[in-house]
Amino acid sequence: MILLTDIGCLTGICEKGITCKKGKEMDALTCIGDAWLLIDGDRIAGYGEMSGLDVEALERECGKPVECRTALEGRWVFPSFCDSHTHMIYVGNRAGEFIDKINGLSYEEIARRGGGILNSADLLNATGEDELFEQSMRRVREVMAKGTGSVEIKSGYGLTLEGELKMLRVARRIKESVPMEVKNTFLGAHAVGRAFQGRQKEYVDMVCNEMIPEVGRQRLADYVDVFCDEGFFTPEETDRILAEGARWGMKPKIHANELAVSGGVQAGVRNGAISVDHLERTGKDEIDALRLSSTMPTMLPGASFFLGMPYGNARGMIEAGLPFALASDYNPGSSPSGDMRFVGSLGCVKMKLTPEQVLNATTINGACAMELSDETGSIGAGKLANFFVTEPLPNLAFFYYAYATPMICEVWLRGHKIP
Ligand code: NIG
Ligand code: FE
Repeated sequence: MILLTDIGCLTGICEKGITCKKGKEMDALTCIGDAWLLIDGDRIAGYGEMSGLDVEALERECGKPVECRTALEGRWVFPSFCDSHTHMIYVGNRAGEFIDKINGLSYEEIARRGGGILNSADLLNATGEDELFEQSMRRVREVMAKGTGSVEIKSGYGLTLEGELKMLRVARRIKESVPMEVKNTFLGAHAVGRAFQGRQKEYVDMVCNEMIPEVGRQRLADYVDVFCDEGFFTPEETDRILAEGARWGMKPKIHANELAVSGGVQAGVRNGAISVDHLERTGKDEIDALRLSSTMPTMLPGASFFLGMPYGNARGMIEAGLPFALASDYNPGSSPSGDMRFVGSLGCVKMKLTPEQVLNATTINGACAMELSDETGSIGAGKLANFFVTEPLPNLAFFYYAYATPMICEVWLRGHKIP
């Protein structure tokens, strides 16, 4: 067993069985100052205050010796971030559109001119699978070093049967290559593919009749997603795609209400979605629909920041007693960053959330949005030993306040320090 001692503060403690934090529960974070943490294999075996540490008693209880003991000298321990919404598999970048946006074009205008998602799809379809894997793995390694331990990764830049399958095979390869928890989502309905322009109904037919059955047969995805928004897919098309996904065992996790009050939240809720994501434009009707559901509302402040959109009404959700997650949306068009600490800082600065609320939203609630709360998302006995170590901090707020100062010095996943 490995024993870490002299931890300045062990944050985000939450035992198995608590799947998420809702409403006012999000204000609280259980922490222990001057703490120890015991790791047995890939799991957390226990934790407590230094003043009560009795190593021999722990060894007797667990029936094995502590083989390695390290003093963290006041450094802090955080549960790994759980990033429940990303599009990390893509080729190249869209820095050209970044300039178009600086010159005044909107995200929708760029998409209407054939850029945007279709631009990434053209590049992806022209790139071999190994190259796609290598480029994507660079991003995966980058977010792992920034403290992310669990991640959801979507397809949606193929928009052809072969392109979508290629993306999902790369996602599976990523899952097999890293010690992170990885969930895969089929997002064939991210945009109408280039060859189907002007024939949206035929594209939806193809998604339902060809793509979903093949993805299902090859068991390549845990979830099914639809970009249910103005200019993309309607709530009726969304119902149809989600129903087809359900027949193949893929639960919904959808994009909704980013560009307009699209009816997407209600479509997600009525289809039993695990989460509805974006929610930049969410009013009372959406909050009412969410209150009657177990769907996790998920907001993506990195996309609001990058596209200059409104930020979701997270405080309204807390007042309504709802939980919510915050995720990075890491993608080439609307959020070219997977930095979950920056996501937290945006939550604090732009959404007026407290450091405790954003930490809950990016850990335990993110885990819940991937159905992983029993495995990860907090420090708890029997959970995966997934955490990161920071420099000694004066308080939790400092972590999000000095948002660009490097502070993460060690990353541990499944009980091992990542080199
Ligand atoms: O979540 N909104 C839809 N999809 C992505 C953006 C994809 C892109 O522009 O490439 C998002 O923001
Ligand atoms: Fe997205």
